[in-house]
Amino acid sequence: MTESTFIHRFEPATNAGSPPLLLLHGTGGDENDLLGLGKMISPGSALLSPRGRVLEHGMPRFFRRLAEGVFDEDDVRRRALELGDFVADARKQYGIAAPVAVGFSNGANIAAALLLLKPDVLAGAILLRAMVPLSDPPKTDLLMPELGGKPILLLSGQADPIVPASNSAKLAALLSEAGARVDHKVLPAGHQLSQADVTLARNWIGSVDAKAA
Ligand code: MLT
Repeated sequence: MTESTFIHRFEPATNAGSPPLLLLHGTGGDENDLLGLGKMISPGSALLSPRGRVLEHGMPRFFRRLAEGVFDEDDVRRRALELGDFVADARKQYGIAAPVAVGFSNGANIAAALLLLKPDVLAGAILLRAMVPLSDPPKTDLLMPELGGKPILLLSGQADPIVPASNSAKLAALLSEAGARVDHKVLPAGHQLSQADVTLARNWIGSVDAKAA
């Protein structure tokens, strides 16, 4: 691998029928954080889990921010493309299909950016507590046949102090307008994940055929 290398964990599939997952942790997490969640959501899937390359006071993230919920959007664009290159290289190295992203918080935000900027990288996505990653995604980027029909599960927390309800609704609308099949649910939760997230994500991934997307 070249410049696009990320420190990461890879666990091969134990069930060839399960879609590979790209696990994207939240601020301060690392490549180990979401392995357990990935196994709960889709037992038997190959797991590709990179560590974000931006450090905020020593805490790994996937892109720079100016304040909580205020993003350095040039960095978002650059880092999303880097992550896309990493996934392309990892797919060759490990021989896996396009993955379904499972992202939490900052990891969900970079997954949303990837969907808007390089939709061919992902087969679908589970976005846990995601926000709109780019305030002004170029309209031309949104005319994307590649996002057409792609399944996306967006799970938001009703009492999330970081993601206002209007923001997650806007993200759902943005992805739908770009052609994705978005399932948006608002849970009685805050920013942290709940058991309901795991159950809904597991049921959803069992019901969509990400390979056909
Ligand atoms: C972000 O920076 O991506 C969001 O504020 C979520 C987080 O706290 O990481």
